[in-house]
Amino acid sequence: MEYFAVTGGRPLEGSVAVHGAKNSALPILAATLLARGESVIHNCPDLTDVQTALEILTCLGCRVQREGNTLLVDTSCAHGIRVPDGLMGRMRASVLFLGALLAREGRAEAGWPGGCALGARPIDLHLAAFQALGAQVRDSGETIVCRGRTLQGTRLTFPIPSVGATENAMLAACGAEGVTILQNPAREPEIADLQGFLQAMGADVEGAGTERIIIRGGRPLRPASYRVMADRIVTATYLCSVASAGGEGIFTGTDGSHLLPVLEALAAAGCAIRREPGRIILRKDRPLGSVHITTGPYPAFPTDAQPLLAAALAGGAGESTITETIFDRRFRYVQGLNALGGSVRLEGNTAHITGRPLHGGQVTAPDLRGGAALVIAALGAEGESRITGLTHMDRGYQGLEDTLQKLGASIRRTKDKGT
Ligand code: UD1
Repeated sequence: MEYFAVTGGRPLEGSVAVHGAKNSALPILAATLLARGESVIHNCPDLTDVQTALEILTCLGCRVQREGNTLLVDTSCAHGIRVPDGLMGRMRASVLFLGALLAREGRAEAGWPGGCALGARPIDLHLAAFQALGAQVRDSGETIVCRGRTLQGTRLTFPIPSVGATENAMLAACGAEGVTILQNPAREPEIADLQGFLQAMGADVEGAGTERIIIRGGRPLRPASYRVMADRIVTATYLCSVASAGGEGIFTGTDGSHLLPVLEALAAAGCAIRREPGRIILRKDRPLGSVHITTGPYPAFPTDAQPLLAAALAGGAGESTITETIFDRRFRYVQGLNALGGSVRLEGNTAHITGRPLHGGQVTAPDLRGGAALVIAALGAEGESRITGLTHMDRGYQGLEDTLQKLGASIRRTKDKGT
């Protein structure tokens, strides 16, 4: 079995670049289906989730090619309408291909989407958006079938802002005749990044990042060349790594404007943070103090970053609380933090963290960000840790251990003999 062997307690020092955002790359790859021809996507990280998206595109008849972190996606020969069940089950974002296929082919089929087990993850808002655009949707609980040869623009108000449902509605609405207005959409920066790609394709879309997105659909779209934004959660991961282990890290290719609540929390805990154009510098030279945060839809504190902050705070010296409002099973990493000597107590949807020195231990990543949290805790813990469950981290981090090694961390990917 593969695992990370981490020797903690060494301050980190150095400068590393942050790779492109998984949660932008995935909807953008789905969006390539909206035009016929070759799109070129730059800064596209090499992750297993991106690999899954490429396999879906290939199964639909596209030709894909990777040159470093640039992807060439040729959709000229795409003809498929069904996302294969096996690929659908591998990640939640596979559901985004439904909106893109509806816009392109007027038909889309798929099994139920997989992804991190963060609690109930319904797709009712995605399907309601397709229906509002005039599609017929059948959901047998195992298979989802959407039909909509002539989609019509509509006005749709989301009851809660959902990132995926907003993206799916934007994709499908590009193929609808007339104007679609999405009210109370999610406002995450990755949605603005999708809008940027759609605009580069010639789509008439505006308002991403505000409380209203307007799509004037039915335009012929062309393939485009686009650069994916930096990954703000990966940025948060490296910032929290330095906040846990101590030292000074410089993170380039990312500017922090999408991460303000995380930067504020780290500063409130006692880190010195400097934002400069295109980079963030974090220095930590004393134990972290108390912080109280509540997650929420953007621009509130991101749910994906709360395990990362919790891990840094667990090895600090303050009394902190983290309240989760998006996913009900987001705290599965707490068991691992406590196995590393943490004192984290769950009460409803709030984690009470009493910071104290951590020690090494054997732990298993419960999911993508929970796994990253255990790495962060291990970097700040005295002694050796062994972290299994690396397939979770490989879904969202390109070269996690290489990047941390560049900062001076003692972390290596290794295997039990005979496995
Ligand atoms: C996206 C991100 C994920 C992040 C999450 C919240 C991608 C690929 N993933 O996930 O990393 O943690 O946003 O920032 O971009 N909901 C419904 N019905 C729906 C859809 C969602 O009730 O049809 C609920 C969810 O259960 C959750 C909330 O809405 O409580 C927000 O989820 P959503 O924004 O849709 O998350 P994802 O798009 O799955």
